[in-house]
Amino acid sequence: MTEGSAKKPWTGRFNEPTDAFVEAFTASVDFDKRLQHYDIWGSIAHARMLAKIGVLTQEEAETIVKGLKSIEADIDAGQFEWDIALEDVHMNIEAALTERIGVLGKKLHTGRSRNDQVATDMRLYLRDETDDIVSELTRLQTALLDVAEREAGTIMPGFTHLQTAQPVTFGHHMMAWFEMLNRDHERLCNGRVRIDRSPLGAAALAGTTYPIDPEITASLLGFDEPCVNSLDAVSDRDFVIEFISNCALLLTHLSRFSEELILWSSAQFEFVDLGDAFCTGSSIMPQKKNPDVPELVRGKASRVYGHLIALLSLMKAQPLAYNRDNQEDKEPLFDTVDTVKGCLKVYADMVPGIRVNAERMREAARRGFSTATDLADYLVRKGLPFRDAHEIVGNAVRQGVQSGRDLAEMSLDELRGFSPKIEEDVFDILTLDGSVAARDHLGGTAPKRVRSAVQRARAELHALTHTSASSD
Ligand code: ARG
Repeated sequence: MTEGSAKKPWTGRFNEPTDAFVEAFTASVDFDKRLQHYDIWGSIAHARMLAKIGVLTQEEAETIVKGLKSIEADIDAGQFEWDIALEDVHMNIEAALTERIGVLGKKLHTGRSRNDQVATDMRLYLRDETDDIVSELTRLQTALLDVAEREAGTIMPGFTHLQTAQPVTFGHHMMAWFEMLNRDHERLCNGRVRIDRSPLGAAALAGTTYPIDPEITASLLGFDEPCVNSLDAVSDRDFVIEFISNCALLLTHLSRFSEELILWSSAQFEFVDLGDAFCTGSSIMPQKKNPDVPELVRGKASRVYGHLIALLSLMKAQPLAYNRDNQEDKEPLFDTVDTVKGCLKVYADMVPGIRVNAERMREAARRGFSTATDLADYLVRKGLPFRDAHEIVGNAVRQGVQSGRDLAEMSLDELRGFSPKIEEDVFDILTLDGSVAARDHLGGTAPKRVRSAVQRARAELHALTHTSASSD
């Protein structure tokens, strides 16, 4: 037997030591040690529950808790040695406990299995990470609201098919981004409800013969409630899939923002400047200032899509209950957490410093006949059916394209040539400010509507954050 395998707690029925490569192949400690604090916390709760039901004495439980806390202190001080012969975070910590407090350490695993233990650790971990991600998301959402408020009256071209469509305000555009993120916020908070359940007590798969009380461990760990079926409790990874799925959609949104920022910061658009701290240069072209941050965020979305597919395929057709396949849930989940946190942080830091080139945007909106629909609506108000109005304005635009002028640059006489219903007041509606101000209804782009949308969103965001915090 190798030195490592001699320490394993499950060698009783084996005649031969584990193959050295198999030992490395099956070990997860290199990555699941990320769960270390949750594993210790879960073990403390389990020991206390065992004492409450009389399986351990109060004194035994306290000795175990002390031992676990001393291990935690060593881990925090960087003085704990992880051993791959002990497979995973759970067995490493349990072996260290027994080393420190003697045979009593071996009692900790009474009425428990690594199957309910790992599911518990994962839920505790993901609950915390969800909270961190939601607070970083809130920071980004708040930054968007600030920009939206500041730029509520800044006019830009709105696009469909990436062709100039109608003028909108930059604030309105920021609020569209905000709305996407707000749905992500709601989804993450909603997913948290299904994370917040305690699998402890399910043991390996069938429950345990000890008179355990899953309510006690659930409440010691701050879980909302215990899982109610032991088979499902040890095998369920829906909460991981839901979380990654929510992150994938969140990153879809960030990739859409990224794409627009990349376009807008190009020399062809020059709508925004991202700030030097968030761009990099080229080693060959001295003039370059590249939008690497949005480009990378756009690219990172694809990693998380990969993780989502990995988890869905991991669970597809998996029979009940626990299977070792499930160890493969960790690396994709951990990378999803790291990726999303990084993207949110860099965006929340970058957005407040985005400088808007209002003149360029206004000029771009002025070109491209962006107020053509306003002229059609004007004719409708003067009594024409919309389809006829559409046709008349189409003729005027054709003339404008041929002569290289926008509608507002044509004389009244010229415009009246398209329809005698057109009068002097047409110039009020052909202006960009008139166009956006006229879209004065819930969800419209009028500056005053954008300001009230920001106010409403601030209140909603506050309520959302308040609700998720109070559910702790
Ligand atoms: N490292 C394992 C995992 O991540 C822990 C559970 C192992 N359980 C078992 N019966 N081998 O899933």
